[in-house]
Amino acid sequence: MQPLCLASEITEQQSKGFEIDGRGIFAVRKNDQLYVYENRCPHRGVPLEWMPDTFLDPEKQFIQCATHGALFTIDAGLCIAGPCNGTSLEPVSFEVIDGQLCIAPN
Ligand code: FES
Repeated sequence: MQPLCLASEITEQQSKGFEIDGRGIFAVRKNDQLYVYENRCPHRGVPLEWMPDTFLDPEKQFIQCATHGALFTIDAGLCIAGPCNGTSLEPVSFEVIDGQLCIAPN
């Protein structure tokens, strides 16, 4: 498993991006659950964030793509508004090991 950071570094309703060997990934915490997705919008295949580590909408209710504003649910990565409505972000399987957020190598 590839460690990304301490799981505690991602606080409630915060997001954090990572680049691992050219692979973009981000993690979000909501209701004390962590979610990890590939950083790739299903609309155009581009990275999602507005600014570094900024993947959520202003209300922090959804993941929002900076390019055309698509909204994705945090817990399932499902697009519920925007040009790719009905598609989903690709989830990344992860584990927290000794407090470290770790993903399986690609
Ligand atoms: S590239 Fe994300 S909504 Fe168009």
